[in-house]
Amino acid sequence: MWVLLLLLPLLGVLVWAVFKHFLTADVPAVLKHRIKFRMLHCAFLYITTLGHVLEKLRICSGYKFVRFLEDLWIIKKDPSLVVTNLRFGTIPVRLFQPRAASSEPRRAIIFYHGGGGGFGTLTSYHSLCCFLARETESVVLSVGYRLYPDSFGMVMAEDCYAASVHFLRNLQTYGVDPSLVLVGGESIGGTFVGYVCRKLLARSDLPRIRAQIMICPFLQAINLQLPSHQRYKNVPFLTQTLMLTCLCDCMSINHSWWDAMLNGSFRSPELWKKYQKWLSADNIPKKFKPSNYRPPVSAPFHEAAFLETGLLFDQRFSPLLANDEVVARLPPAFLLSCENDIFRDDALLYKKRLEDLRVPVVSYHVEDGFHGALLFFDKKCFSFPCSRRIVNAVASYIRGIQ
Ligand SMILES: *[C@@H]1O[C@H](CO)[C@@H](O)[C@H](O)[C@H]1NC(C)=O
Ligand SMILES: *[C@@H]1O[C@H](CO)[C@@H](O)[C@H](O)[C@H]1NC(C)=O
Repeated sequence: MWVLLLLLPLLGVLVWAVFKHFLTADVPAVLKHRIKFRMLHCAFLYITTLGHVLEKLRICSGYKFVRFLEDLWIIKKDPSLVVTNLRFGTIPVRLFQPRAASSEPRRAIIFYHGGGGGFGTLTSYHSLCCFLARETESVVLSVGYRLYPDSFGMVMAEDCYAASVHFLRNLQTYGVDPSLVLVGGESIGGTFVGYVCRKLLARSDLPRIRAQIMICPFLQAINLQLPSHQRYKNVPFLTQTLMLTCLCDCMSINHSWWDAMLNGSFRSPELWKKYQKWLSADNIPKKFKPSNYRPPVSAPFHEAAFLETGLLFDQRFSPLLANDEVVARLPPAFLLSCENDIFRDDALLYKKRLEDLRVPVVSYHVEDGFHGALLFFDKKCFSFPCSRRIVNAVASYIRGIQ
């Protein structure tokens, strides 16, 4: 009887998740393994909805519930690596070092995971870091920056910065060559890559970052009407709703401003005038725009919305808003974009900005890729052909840095 009482709501949520998927999710024809993709998205909706229910019942934070499940994933030991959990101050980090002896100091990658600031943990990105350390024979430092609801956007970025500085100060301890330190991240981790690289420009006392690696990065929230935002807003796993939820939570913006953020009325005319030249859809190459793409009409300015969303205009947090003098001094970049990703255009715009300012850029575009695809690269029957290609492209770029 009690079991039934417990099972019924769980079953109800499952049915709801499946309905929600089929009613709202858009699965583009180019995606491979579509049935598996749909099943995984149903599972994702099921878990996030359970989290939401637990939060409504005031049992625990929905984000924490999902992270708890992420951490249940069993980590396989990689005999070729030494993995150490450390704390840099209050920030947990995980260090991956090749076990084999090396006569020379190694390359290093400082990595910030994705997850929108609410999801993603050291454990869920563990196998990716193992892969990178093993395949590129590098030391990898994965930073466990504090997440929402314990922390907010700027604090997360500062955690990433603080951990990176600590690492850069102690390269010798970890057998790292100071001229071979790379910084990389996925999704919101890519935002932090921009933040950290920018902030380190002012630090002549620390080794220069050799390259920045951004995988499906989130680089601005001023123009949420770009072609990819319109076209892929219902494509899992990062739908527009999920993006806005995470963005508003992490930036402590009241969710009632969603409309204003989407229709552009939260942008002050002066700031938009300044940023338009970098962020407008005119900068997106034609082949990435559907023939029926219409640049949206800007809604009239809404001052209250602007005041509430002010942090989105912070140049430090949005690498695409940085001035030319800053961008021109950034390290060479590797930009990986997925076609079926709401953030595709962020990567395309950033590529253009870097190239215009003569910063070397290597870009890699994945036609059948989607946001979050790389996490499945080693999940056997849950993997996708693009997952493997993404991680291989990243590893291959890293190996080229010598
Ligand atoms: C968000 O805004 C709505 C409507 O303006 C208001 O009712 C609500 O209390 C606000 N929520 C928070 C957490 O401030
Ligand atoms: C844009 O959003 C704001 C805030 O919700 C709303 O007041 C305004 O009417 C919207 N404008 C248009 C043109 O949709």
